Amino acid sequence: MIVLDQENKIFTLHTQNTTYQMKVDQYHVLEHIYYGARIDNCDLSGLIKCGERSFSPNPDEAGRNRDYSLDVMPQEYSTCGVGDFRLPSIELELPGGSHTADLRYEGFHLEKGKYKLEGLPGFHGMENEAETLVVLLKDSAARIAVEMYYGVFEDFDLITRAIRLVNEGTETIRVCRCASLCLDFTRSDLDLITFNGHHLMERCLDRGPVRPGIQSVGSVRGISSHQHNPFVMICDHDADEDRGMCYGAMLLYSGNFEAAVECSQYENSRLVMGIHPYHFCWTLEPAGTFTAPETAMVCSPDGFGQMSRQYHKAIRKHLLRDPYQYERKPVLVNNWEATYFDFDADKLVDIAREAADLGIELFVMDDGWFGSRNDDNSGLGDWQVNREKLPGGLEALVPCVKDLGMKFGIWMEPEMVNEDSDLYRAHPDWILRVPGRAPSRGRGQLVLDFSRKDVRDHIYDQMKAVLGSADISYIKWDMNRSLTDVWSAGLPAGRQGEVYHRYVLGVYDLLERLHCDYPYILIEGCCGGGGRFDGGMLYYTPQIWCSDDTDAIDRLRIQYGTSFCYPVCTMEAHVSAVPNEQNGRFTPLETRGITAMSGAFGYEMDLGKCTEEEKRKIRRQVETYKKHYNLIHDGDYYRLSSPLQDSSYTAWEQVSAGQKEALVNVVMGCTHSAPPFRTLRLKGLNPSFQYQVDGIGETYSGGELMKAGYPLPQIRGDYPAFQVYLKAVG
Ligand code: DGJ
Repeated sequence: MIVLDQENKIFTLHTQNTTYQMKVDQYHVLEHIYYGARIDNCDLSGLIKCGERSFSPNPDEAGRNRDYSLDVMPQEYSTCGVGDFRLPSIELELPGGSHTADLRYEGFHLEKGKYKLEGLPGFHGMENEAETLVVLLKDSAARIAVEMYYGVFEDFDLITRAIRLVNEGTETIRVCRCASLCLDFTRSDLDLITFNGHHLMERCLDRGPVRPGIQSVGSVRGISSHQHNPFVMICDHDADEDRGMCYGAMLLYSGNFEAAVECSQYENSRLVMGIHPYHFCWTLEPAGTFTAPETAMVCSPDGFGQMSRQYHKAIRKHLLRDPYQYERKPVLVNNWEATYFDFDADKLVDIAREAADLGIELFVMDDGWFGSRNDDNSGLGDWQVNREKLPGGLEALVPCVKDLGMKFGIWMEPEMVNEDSDLYRAHPDWILRVPGRAPSRGRGQLVLDFSRKDVRDHIYDQMKAVLGSADISYIKWDMNRSLTDVWSAGLPAGRQGEVYHRYVLGVYDLLERLHCDYPYILIEGCCGGGGRFDGGMLYYTPQIWCSDDTDAIDRLRIQYGTSFCYPVCTMEAHVSAVPNEQNGRFTPLETRGITAMSGAFGYEMDLGKCTEEEKRKIRRQVETYKKHYNLIHDGDYYRLSSPLQDSSYTAWEQVSAGQKEALVNVVMGCTHSAPPFRTLRLKGLNPSFQYQVDGIGETYSGGELMKAGYPLPQIRGDYPAFQVYLKAVG
């Protein structure tokens, strides 16, 4: 609900459990007043105090009033070079050469439903689902208008924000920074939580206090990156899963980004998040516009768990798009770890046949089916079937797979090219490359200049020919290197600072074309695993390959971190063979199944090599997943332990709406003799319901399970795992 107090110029955004307030002050500055637990009918501006502070300048309008300084006031969108020395949200290079921006309130309007952003991903909401407030700020000297969009999804405690700049003057301006989010806190006794890692170990949670100065995470790799995720949290020092104030901030963007927190001299904090200013400079001609990507905030006064559950539901309903918001996605088998590049049609059909027999529904042919692709040094860019490997082409292969009762999916890496390819030989100028400098290779490949429409069109034409040649239900869109040598032949020297962002817009453009032309094709996002696992990609690719690390024990950490923002249905997770390809670890098949099942589930192994006993287990896993699909994907997600804190076990739980069912998942650590007897306290149940344990018949009250706990069985060996399905009875 958006509440306007026009007399006092106060804007209040209420969600079910939270309130967000801003106010236009006496000098027409838009101050940020409050964000936290819901407070009805209030003007909270009395919370903001000011007083004279040396070395904090006073704006001209303040005259002799030395108590007022932008340097200490909480701002809704921080400016630069005019008195606020903290993190700026906007930085403009004006025609005279100055780097300043000063913003004053001009007006507002309301829109029904959720606003939309041209060419960028965003949450979507109809009139009865969301509201929009647009607040207009202007820099009268620069003649720049800043439209600040707020989308309010009341039921999800979700507030989205986006920024659109308009050059209303007659001269060209350069935008050096345009953040998507500025969130000021009148305190600094807070923790910052970020999700970090590397290829094969993405999104590991890190937590530490906000300290004086600036702390930041980000990416200058042209992708949101394996190293840092564009989702961060700020919380009370003592906040945990169930208690304490916490704020999530998610940037829906898949390229360079920065999330920076500054604790300033007077113990205020500011979070600024948006496109990374590195090599960013956007030329805004008269009447030109620039739109910064969307951010999505969830505030939870009741700890991390509640925040995550709100994100999960909101992403499911309002970010993913029809038909893959709620439609059950098929269990798949992917041939990558089974064959790598070494396959032919018979081998693929063999894997598909085994898979079909086990209840698996989709076969995904991974890398190696096209051009001269026999290893990773050639072929990218030539999206025609390699007839040596697949003599009958897709026209022959796909019907064979479909005759087994399975759907067919295909791997592509549209953004890349190898020098050893027909595409590169014909168009060596289509890559990102700085004139006079030989470009760096990554995995032996170069990056196509996706900021150029002619390049994208050519790739899309090839993709359409592939998709038109057979009945293809699924695309795995991969991307296997960071961007370097970022320079485009399609833009003049003065506009090269636009290339990184235009590249991302180009990727979105092609994904959007695919979505519009083939709405029923399910697209899996992938970037060497989880190098582009972000809200921007999820708008186009409703599931993303979590990590190239398929080891179930490593995955516990990865999936744990990922779950803070992103729902289970978006995390693609597969059972692979042992010893694990990445780290050589042996884990039981049950453990691999239980871990992968809390995701978009599949297999990535040569099923023909499995023993009959293993096949029996796999068949059971697939049945279990299908049976509990709605509970796993629609249920409320509870983290019961952290794999980062206690390696002896990791547990999580899904609880159905109405609390009639729950699935408890436990993976134990490596074995010890005479281990302690443990109980696991469950969450989210109804204390007065009686729950029966599937397969055992014992019943426990919800209160007992949540307060006293469920006794964990003792299982011998390393890394055993088990699931407990609870159903309310009576
Ligand atoms: C990286 C992906 O993450 C893998 O799953 C696989 O598709 C390879 N690329 C293929 O080159």
